[in-house]
Amino acid sequence: MEPPSAPPHRTHVPWQGLLLTVSLLTFWNPPATGEAIVHSLPFNASEGTNVFLLVYNWQLDVYGYGWTTSSDNLLATFVIDTVEKRLGPAYSGHETIYPNATLLFRSVTLKDTGYYTLLIVRRSLKNDLATGQFHVY
Ligand SMILES: *[C@@H]1O[C@H](CO)[C@@H](O)[C@H](O)[C@H]1NC(C)=O
Ligand SMILES: *[C@@H]1O[C@H](CO)[C@@H](O)[C@H](O)[C@H]1NC(C)=O
Repeated sequence: MEPPSAPPHRTHVPWQGLLLTVSLLTFWNPPATGEAIVHSLPFNASEGTNVFLLVYNWQLDVYGYGWTTSSDNLLATFVIDTVEKRLGPAYSGHETIYPNATLLFRSVTLKDTGYYTLLIVRRSLKNDLATGQFHVY
């Protein structure tokens, strides 16, 4: 991991902060506080169909959020205020992250089977993790 080098630029701080928090939290894997709930729709999906990971228990002080895969690779992040979406290395082109944190997989393949973790970054800095999973057959 590289140490932070350049002084943070004002307009880029939120995104860098979110990304840093995402990577640190997935690395340290702290216990979730269990506020947000991820619901898979459907849980069992046949290949080629669409799967939603719907997020409930949405809080008002959310700053942004990020989704990671079971292998801890970043899929995408979203910053609410700036409506800024960033795609991570795990993004494969068939996922959509909505402003309400819902993650849509279009035309799933067997490889999509697994766990997906949502990190919610709050302005209060009390962050949450919520996990959803689905199975493709
Ligand atoms: C998904 O499929 C497995 C294996 O067929 C089954 O045991 C499980 O109950 C199913 N889960 C849901 C939520 O349908
Ligand atoms: C989030 O937005 C998407 C797209 O508009 C919608 O399909 C989904 O139902 C929403 N999720 C929730 C939990 O309301």
